[in-house]
Amino acid sequence: MNFKDEMKEKTSQIEQILDQYLPEPEGLQKTVLTAMNTTVKAGGKRLRPMLMQEVYHMFGGTNKIVEPFMAAIEMIHTYSLIHDDLPALDNDDYRRGQKTCHIVYGEDMAILAGDALLNYAYEVAAKAFDMAQGEENFHRTVEAMKVLAQKPGIYGMIGGQVADVELEGQPLTMEQILFIHKHKTSAMIEACMMIGAILAGATKEDIHQMEQCGEYIGLAFQIQDDILDLIGDEKTIGKPVGSDEKNHKVTYVTLKGLEQSKEDVAAISMKAIEILKQYDKENGYLTNLTKFLIHRTC
Ligand code: IPE
Ligand code: IPE
Ligand code: MG
Ligand code: MG
Ligand code: MG
Repeated sequence: MNFKDEMKEKTSQIEQILDQYLPEPEGLQKTVLTAMNTTVKAGGKRLRPMLMQEVYHMFGGTNKIVEPFMAAIEMIHTYSLIHDDLPALDNDDYRRGQKTCHIVYGEDMAILAGDALLNYAYEVAAKAFDMAQGEENFHRTVEAMKVLAQKPGIYGMIGGQVADVELEGQPLTMEQILFIHKHKTSAMIEACMMIGAILAGATKEDIHQMEQCGEYIGLAFQIQDDILDLIGDEKTIGKPVGSDEKNHKVTYVTLKGLEQSKEDVAAISMKAIEILKQYDKENGYLTNLTKFLIHRTC
């Protein structure tokens, strides 16, 4: 099977897993449950659960224990998008090819749907404890939970979002941009790769290598996001072009220029691939995925 077909197949398998873990839209909370589900289901590349699952397999994992974590990270990612689009943050009305959560359900429900997805993610991930057979697997689940709590948090994704929002309209240094990108975007991807490795029983050193690899993939991913915000096609990316300019954000592209930024996406991705070289020997899917992301158009 070629890479693109393989990716398509994996994406639809991930969506089936996600479906299993989404809550039933019923009761007096039905509106918020519907807002949660429709925003998760709206689409998206499912890159984070895909990275987690691939790393898990790469380190020899064969169990379903990774699945609640895959669902959880996509829920946390979706919550971060719902809140990122709110009027108080980026104020965008289009996401994953649809009207954003706050446009459809109102700002109140969008805030609550984000909160609910974040919280529900841990409820879902905790199901892995019931699936963990033996002390070793139980311990790995504990370690994976710690990463799932830390990386999206104030020292990770939220920290990056805070700096991104607070420094809006200011002339940023490259050091500040790198802080923002590595926190708001790399941290979540680091989490995916670390959790995949942890659950499969990788060594401390290998987990650390996956963290480093995730940092590079995340950084390249966010630079490409900044590029697409400038020259992407709105229909293809499914979110507004020009959001950064509208919000007076200095991005990686502002500082380095378009051509240099494109070269940097490729160079930083190659650093990730260099790390993967020692691990990704079976089918090279992760390596191909990292290469594919360099030229992604959505
Ligand atoms: C968007 O992430 C937010 C960033 C960190 C750039 P994705 O581009 O992965 O969004 P979806 O999940 O495919 O919608
Ligand atoms: C936000 O970065 C990353 C998140 C943590 C949600 P952006 O604000 O550039 O993401 P998009 O372009 O709206 O997806
Ligand atoms: Mg933002
Ligand atoms: Mg945004
Ligand atoms: Mg963006």
